[in-house]
Amino acid sequence: MVGKTILVLDENIASRNFLANLLREKQFEVLEAASGKEALIAAWRDEPDLVLFDPVLSDIHDEEFILKLRNDQRTSKTPLIAISSDPGPVRKEACINAGVNEYLIKSSQAIPALEEALSRLFGAEKPAEAPPPAKEKKGILVVFLSAKGGTGTSSLCANLAMNIQQLHPKERVVVADLVLPIGSIGPIVGYEGKLNLVTVADLPSGQTNEDFFHRELPQPELWKFQLLAGSPDPQHGNILRGDRIIEIVETLRTAYDFIILDIGRSLSRISLPLIQEADLIPLVVSTDQSTVKLTKTVWNYLQTQGIEQQKVYAILNRAVGLEGLTKAEAETIIGLTIQKAMPYMGGNFALANNLNQPITTKYPTDTASLILKETAEDMVKLAHRLRAR
Ligand SMILES: Nc1ncnc2c1ncn2[C@@H]1O[C@H](COP(=O)(O)OP(=O)(O)OP(=O)(O)O)[C@@H](O)[C@H]1O
Ligand SMILES: [Mg+2]
Repeated sequence: MVGKTILVLDENIASRNFLANLLREKQFEVLEAASGKEALIAAWRDEPDLVLFDPVLSDIHDEEFILKLRNDQRTSKTPLIAISSDPGPVRKEACINAGVNEYLIKSSQAIPALEEALSRLFGAEKPAEAPPPAKEKKGILVVFLSAKGGTGTSSLCANLAMNIQQLHPKERVVVADLVLPIGSIGPIVGYEGKLNLVTVADLPSGQTNEDFFHRELPQPELWKFQLLAGSPDPQHGNILRGDRIIEIVETLRTAYDFIILDIGRSLSRISLPLIQEADLIPLVVSTDQSTVKLTKTVWNYLQTQGIEQQKVYAILNRAVGLEGLTKAEAETIIGLTIQKAMPYMGGNFALANNLNQPITTKYPTDTASLILKETAEDMVKLAHRLRAR
């Protein structure tokens, strides 16, 4: 892989040489470190594209090594692959919780597994006859998710989508509210019309094409994006067909540049494939113990479903007041880096919602508005970067 740099950390010189040579043969630039501390210095100084390391270290605890990388801006998103001389499950679990992307055990299978992980991360050299992935033409899919209700997912989804549209006025942005059995983006942005997920799903699929969405979807004043509102009531929400949802999202992906979904806490057979397809998964976490613990459960589950950590964009939202866990505490419990923290806005947040106004319009100079803008920018950059891999 020309142009990609890998930092190899292994205290064992024979093992380190073996890995370094293997990677050089594959055209990677290789940096080597013989201790945890040396590796941290090299990682922060040279910002490699990947850190490959044996977590059995004598100068620094494995978890601490990972958290130090994860908590530093220069390496918070760098892929980390552990290739471990310890076959036990305890270290494996600790390393995964601390934030490694892959944990391999040194064995005869380690090398093929490593090669597979590298091609997943950097893109395999595909045979010439392979067709370009259809995904290239599709809009960026952003799926807002939470482990528990009331964490501010819908409000952040609408507000961040508005900021994305504002930052990219030429791009087409659509928000679709998929929270079942009842949606809430419509009420937040003040849309009271008849067109929603249920009425659209009732139309023959031939009719709900790209043109239909461009033409028919409302564009609520002040919010700038187009909206596919959610189910208006549980009775409708419960009879909605899952296959129609997938089909509608597929069409939106060819019709828009950014497709921003609110699926709230409805992690289900219908929503899982959407999460797996997503370019970016903003995971909204409030600061109370129970939400943070549930978020850990959800994150552990998502990992078993093949969701990459790099795609998860955790947002800590102080929706419940000033008390609660700190960012560092939440990160340790969940085992994920928190990318952004939204301050508690007291009644102002609900007031903006009740007036159907975006936060950045109602309180343009508030810290929360600045953070929303920054977050929108950051999310777009990250999504593009992940696409470019
Ligand atoms: N940072 C914040 N500061 C103050 N209030 C907030 C903050 N974030 C969210 N809220 C309030 O929390 C409430 C819940 O917000 P919202 O409906 O967006 O959450 P949700 O996670 O989508 O909930 P649901 O489970 O109902 O879908 C709203 O009244 C909102 O005004
Ligand atoms: Mg909601």
